[in-house]
Parts: sequence; structure tokens; C-alpha cells
Amino acid sequence: MKDATAPPRSLLVLGGTSEIALATARRLIARRTRTVWLAGRPSAALEAAAEGLRALGADVRTTAFDALDPESHETDLGKVFAEGPVDMVLFAFGVPGDQAHDERDPLRAVRVARTNYTGAVSAGLVTGQALQAQGHGCLVVLSSVAAERARRGDFIYGSSKAGLDVFAQGLGDALHGTGVRVMVVRPGPVRSRGTAGRHRSTLSTTPEAVATAVELGLRRGSETVWVPGVLRPVMWALRHAPRALYRRLEV
Ligand SMILES: NC(=O)c1ccc[n+]([C@@H]2O[C@H](COP(=O)([O-])OP(=O)(O)OC[C@H]3O[C@@H](n4cnc5c(N)ncnc54)[C@H](OP(=O)(O)O)[C@@H]3O)[C@@H](O)[C@H]2O)c1
Repeated sequence: MKDATAPPRSLLVLGGTSEIALATARRLIARRTRTVWLAGRPSAALEAAAEGLRALGADVRTTAFDALDPESHETDLGKVFAEGPVDMVLFAFGVPGDQAHDERDPLRAVRVARTNYTGAVSAGLVTGQALQAQGHGCLVVLSSVAAERARRGDFIYGSSKAGLDVFAQGLGDALHGTGVRVMVVRPGPVRSRGTAGRHRSTLSTTPEAVATAVELGLRRGSETVWVPGVLRPVMWALRHAPRALYRRLEV
């Protein structure tokens, strides 16, 4: 069985254009990752992301993955595992949705849930079984602080992340003892290209900080990682706040 706390030699990213995933891939390539699969919906952005990582010296390939098409997951992801062992799978796909619009358009709300939750159920079972068959590996799942407690402003997204989070925890328990582990990562709001100027609170973070926390979590064998770490006690307190008080906090 391989050392599950060492940086991975091979990485499969689901959501290959994700800013957080690419920051994580860059960090892991700087350690010892040599092979990277960027899985996503075919696009120029996906190819550009691959080119960017190749420039760092990694062998990078792109492959198809659509969270909204679970029927394809076994075939599409199976192709990657058929090429050789995968040490780490990073679940980085997801959509935030637009709460105000989605509340008025149930089908759009369902699309958020299907992308973030049911897409991950299918991909999680497929990759979990593949990792188990090879006898080692780590599944790293980008959940969110929004999964911890419903918020008025983003409960459609939050509920999809809560489903994903509980699913990932359970999958980790199911795989315990097989040589495969699951690490759930719960970032606060991430300052990225799309959120420039927003998310300036001390509870917000950056793609690079999430990448650092993922690497540290891998080394420590963590099951849950909060980014920034102070979110752990903050969310513990908020989780236990009375409902009426919590509603007034507008967190
Ligand atoms: N940004 C934040 O504030 C924040 C905070 C906490 C957690 N997270 C979570 O962290 C993860 C990465 O976030 P990020 O900020 O790096 O987001 P991002 O840059 O917007 O990347 C999202 C990724 O999801 C992919 N995706 C969306 N729908 C898909 C589908 N149907 N099938 C396959 N891929 C799909 C996108 O691919 P395309 O290029 O094809 O669109 C893209 O690769 C997400 O799960 C997000 O929920 C983000």
C-alpha cells in the first residue's frame, strides 16, 4: 500500500478549469506530482489550463467529464484509471448558482443541485471504487463553509454542498481500511478572478491558501480541513446559535 500522506505522483482533477484546483495542482507539481489529468467539459479554457501546468514540467492530459451526465462517468473516468494508477482525485467542479434567480426558477435550482450533489455522488462512487481496486489513493472533495448551516442568501448552493459533504464523509467511512481515504475541504468565500473586490473578510481565503491547506491536510492525514482554520471554531459556534439569533446575524 502506498503512503497516503505523501504528495501524489498522479492527480486527477474533476473540474479541470477550477481556480482552486489549478492552484492546488501547481502546488503539488512543485512537490512531486508528475502526471495530471484535467477532466472537464471540453473548452479552450480547459486546454489553456493544461498548457499552463505543462509549462511547470508535468505530463498533463485533458479528458471529458460532465457532472450533469452521470451515465457517462463510468466510461469517461474509467479511461483515466485504465492508463495507470491515480494517487489523488480532486473534486473541484461546482456552480454557485444565483440564489435570487434560482428561487424563481426551480429548474435552474435543480441544475445547481444536480451539478454539485448528484454529479458528485456518481463520480464519487465511480472513482472511489477505482481507487479501492488499485488499493490506494486519496479523494479530496471541495465542499464549502456553506454546507455547515443554511443561510438565507445561498441555501440552494448550501444544501447541495451539504449533500456533497455528508456523502463524502460517508464514502470516507465506507473506504476506511481499504488504503483509500477521503478528505473533505471546507473553504470560506474564496477571493478569485470572479470575486475581485468582494469577500474581504477575515473568514475569506484565496485559491493558493486552499492549495496550501490541501497539501498540509494530505501530509497530516486529515479527514476534514477548514480554510482558513479559524472557521472551524467560528462555524461550531454558529451551528449552535439559536435559529432566531442566527437569522439576524446575516452571515
Ligand atoms: N470560490 C469560492 O468562493 C468557493 C468557496 C468554497 C467552496 N468552493 C468550491 O470549490 C470548488 C472549486 O471552486 P472554484 O472557485 O475553483 O470555482 P471555478 O473556478 O468557478 O471552477 C468551477 C469548476 O466547475 C466546473 N463545472 C461546472 N459545471 C460543471 C459540469 N456540469 N461538469 C463538469 N464540470 C463543471 C467548471 O468547468 P467549466 O470550465 O466547464 O465551467 C470549473 O472547472 C467548487 O466545488 C466550489 O463550489 C468555492
